[in-house]
Amino acid sequence: MKTLSVSHLLGIKNLKLEDLHLIFETATHFKEVINRPIKKVPSLRDITIANLFFENSTRTKLSFELAEKRLSADVINFSSAQSSINKGETLVDTVNNILAMKVDIVVMRHPNSGAAHYISKHVKSCIINAGDGTHEHPSQALLDTFSLQEKFGNLTGRRIAIVGDILHSRVALSNIYALKMLGAEVRLCAPKSLLPKHIESMGVSVSTDLMEVLNWCDAVNMLRVQNERMELSYFPNTREYSQNFGLTGERLSQLRKKIVVLHPGPINRGVEITSEVADSEQAIILDQVENGVAVRMAIIYLLASKLNIPLK
Ligand code: NCD
Repeated sequence: MKTLSVSHLLGIKNLKLEDLHLIFETATHFKEVINRPIKKVPSLRDITIANLFFENSTRTKLSFELAEKRLSADVINFSSAQSSINKGETLVDTVNNILAMKVDIVVMRHPNSGAAHYISKHVKSCIINAGDGTHEHPSQALLDTFSLQEKFGNLTGRRIAIVGDILHSRVALSNIYALKMLGAEVRLCAPKSLLPKHIESMGVSVSTDLMEVLNWCDAVNMLRVQNERMELSYFPNTREYSQNFGLTGERLSQLRKKIVVLHPGPINRGVEITSEVADSEQAIILDQVENGVAVRMAIIYLLASKLNIPLK
């Protein structure tokens, strides 16, 4: 059986192209499974997974939990709002206490960049990064690129734009790694203040002109402005941001071709994307959500198969 080159999923940066292909192949199989009348497989019956969410999340948490249940794993959930972290416990102690209950895999979201790497060095468990600060969100990039591949077949030479708050977005960074690995061309579009300095060194181009970028691309991934991560004001006001960087039906209708529209959610309707566009047939936002479960099943299954616990 083919296996992943890693034993944790910390970021796309740590993966190889063969890992992406293996995850996509496995996800395609699981997508077929979850569309059957009986959506469950017994594979992970002897595996226990803890979902540790130290930051708010709706879709990623539900998606991981559903993926784990579809694989028949035992699942425990923990969110920091109700935890002893508020009583002064360190992250390593919290995680080690949970592992003492014989947990095999930890899915963790944390507001600090690097938290998943740190934990993987200090505790004995398989770690899946479900988003660490402004750093990486690998499962999101895998489901985004999986959804794009479903649309286009192959991403070699495809032009993919990422528009919005690149500076604070872990989705952007993970997508850049994944898209580049798969051979796509990537262009970023944002106000100058929301573009990280020297980002071109990642082999991407940048622009502050939305119409130019939309005319260039085959697909556009629209990102939310991450107000919760901003200490400063990065643009004058939301109305001006929408006027310059919002995706509207009118803008799409001026293009020569129909481009594919993605959004990782949560959507701020009327800010980075209008309802008209979000609900249009060009948007694959709900396909992304559906694929998210299959891709996360693939990630968990492939990492679990490296654990010396026989899978069913
Ligand atoms: C993203 C995240 O949390 O980084 N959302 C998600 O995982 N569904 C993007 C965002 O919050 O804007």
